[in-house]
Formats: sequence, structure tokens, C-alpha cells
Amino acid sequence: MKALVLAGGTGSRLRPFSHSMPKQLMPIANKPVLVHVMEDLRSLGVREAGVVVGDRGGEIAAALGDGAALGLRLTYIRQDVPRGLADCIAVSRDFLGADDFVMYLGDNVLTEGVKDIADEFRAHRPAAQLVVHPVPDPRDFGVAETDATGRVLRLVEKPRHPRSDRAVIGVYFFTPAIHEAVAAIEPSARGELEVTDAIQWLVARGHDVRARLYRGFWKDTGKVEDVLHCNRRLLDRLKPSVVGEVDGTSELLGAVVVEEGARIVRSRITGPAVIGAGSTVEDSHIGPYTAIGRDCVLGAAGVEDSIILDGARVHRVSGVHGSVVGRDATVSAEAHTGGSRLVVGDHSSVVVAA
Ligand code: DAU
Repeated sequence: MKALVLAGGTGSRLRPFSHSMPKQLMPIANKPVLVHVMEDLRSLGVREAGVVVGDRGGEIAAALGDGAALGLRLTYIRQDVPRGLADCIAVSRDFLGADDFVMYLGDNVLTEGVKDIADEFRAHRPAAQLVVHPVPDPRDFGVAETDATGRVLRLVEKPRHPRSDRAVIGVYFFTPAIHEAVAAIEPSARGELEVTDAIQWLVARGHDVRARLYRGFWKDTGKVEDVLHCNRRLLDRLKPSVVGEVDGTSELLGAVVVEEGARIVRSRITGPAVIGAGSTVEDSHIGPYTAIGRDCVLGAAGVEDSIILDGARVHRVSGVHGSVVGRDATVSAEAHTGGSRLVVGDHSSVVVAA
């Protein structure tokens, strides 16, 4: 079975970060979302994956390379305009050939994996096997209605009045029957070729389309609060390891990772937390639920439940929580500045204590 990973699109809901990086490269627990996706694919026994990319393809290829480090062979497939998830299948037609494949949305994180569902697909080969998860408000998702055996009766994309709480999550298994459906459908009202419509086309023609319930943690990392939520869940599985330096006056509590070349000086790190390679933390209290990227500098800082991206600096600011600080950004408190000075990029948000 091949894989098709979708890593194009615009990422407008993840602004301002998606101004400067594809949303699929957003680090969660210090690894890009796409690396979590690739690790999950490996656990399904996949060895060969096509990665659909748009204008930001160069950055994605620079991060993942040929896939060898992840145990995969990667082929990059260019989609010139984000015309929808079914269009991603159409532009990948040559790569997919006559193989069955798993399509994985490059912004989805599943912590438990879907090995059992992949095995069932391999054993029974329905035309399409969807993965669904109950959500309180399914209006932002594809929604599946099924019979008691899991056979899909109807599928609707982002319905205003959902008739079930089963959201279609971003992992789909297909036989080559999907290609005829993709070729047959028309763009939706929002101008996209919807994979939901292609699957509904199969349902309407009597093909076997199944939905299986996934019970683990799942998030579409489209928004900043979802990224932080995922960060907490992935950090909960952190295995402690200290490779960098921790001085005698510092304290590490719980699951803490200190990567190579990182230095912890006169600080307390409360896990789960990861301090990225080459970063320096001095006179600070970090964690829990905090991921600090590479080459960051934190001095007299207090940070919890946050993601600090590579090269960022936090100085003399405590009480930082529920925050994401972008690459090479600086947050500092200075005496004698006569008030606060802010250089805030487009679509950013700053909330200060009242
Ligand atoms: O997250 C699950 C949901 O994903 C499903 O419930 C929906 O049925 C499905 O349509 C999809 O909805 P989204 O609106 O969240 O899809 P989004 O536009 O975020 O795209 C998902 C991924 O696919 C993302 O990594 C970007 C990539 N993509 C998207 C489009 C539209 C492409 O590579 N090319 C595209 O043309």
C-alpha cells in the first residue's frame, strides 16, 4: 500500500505562522506535524509516499528530504493551485498507478495510530475506508452517516445541520476505484474538488464504503489553540533524556528532554518539557507542557504550556502560558522604555495581563 500525504493548501487559519512556514511544518513537541504523520505511516507498514505540495514545496522538501531518515521513499508531487482534496488524488494519478493507498492529511495528528483500521482495509478492500471520530460540533468537517455495520450511507462536507456527530478525520484508505469517482465529480460551491463528493459518488453507485471509529486523540492542527492542545498530548508521551548540560543548581522534574548542546543554568524545568538543541535556559522556570526549539535563549523567563520556535528569545518575562512564539522572535521586559514597545507581525495576537 502506498501513501499520499497532502501538504499543500493555504493554512490561513494558522496565521501568522503560516505567513512564514507551511502549516504542516509547525513543530509540535519539537517535531514538525509532517514528521509525526510520516512516523504514523511507517507504523502502518507503508514504505513509499507521495507528498502533494503547493508553492511552499521547497521548504517541505528541505525538511523531509528523500524520506530515508524516516524510513520512507518520498516523491514530491506539485499541485499548482489548491483545488481540493480530490484534485490532490487527480494530480497524483501517475504516482498512485493501480495501487491501493492511504491518503493522510498533512495537518492531522493522531496519537494512537490506525494500524487496526489499516489491517482491516487490507483484509477486506472496500472501495473506501474512512476513519471517523465523534466531535461535539461537526460542522467544520466531513460528516458520515453509517448503518449499524459501519457501512456508509451518506457523506456530507461541512454540513450546516449535521445528522451525525461522526467527523471524517484526515486518514482515508482507497482502492483504485476512487480514480473514476474523482474524474466524475464537479467542483463544490466553495470551488474545490471535494474528496467527500468523490466518496459520496462511490456510495451512490453501490460501492462498499466503510467507516471505522477511531477512539484515540485526534486533532486537525488548523488553529493555534489546536496546535497547543496537540503539543500537550504529544508531550504526555515524552521519554526523558538529558544529552545537553544541566548545572548543579538546576532542577529537572518529571519527563524532561534536554537535547544536544542545550544548556540549563540556575533553572527549574518541570516536565513534560523539551529543550531543543543548542538552546540556553538561565534563571528561568520552564514547563510543564512546553516545547522549546533549537538555538533559543531564555533568561529570567517563566514559560508554561507553550511552544517556542527555533531561534526565539524570551528575557525577563514570566507568566507566559498558552503561547506560541515564532522563529527568531523576541519577547522581553526592559526598564526605562517608557511603556511597552510592540513590533507585531500581520495577523498576530498579543494578550497582556490587565
Ligand atoms: O481534518 C479533517 C477534515 O479535512 C475532513 O473532515 C474534511 O472532510 C476534509 O475536507 C478536510 O477539511 P479541511 O477544510 O480541514 O481541509 P484543509 O483545507 O485544511 O486541507 C487538509 C490538508 O490538505 C492540509 O494539509 C492542506 C492540504 N491540501 C488542501 C487542499 C484544499 C492540499 O494539499 N491541497 C488542496 O487543494
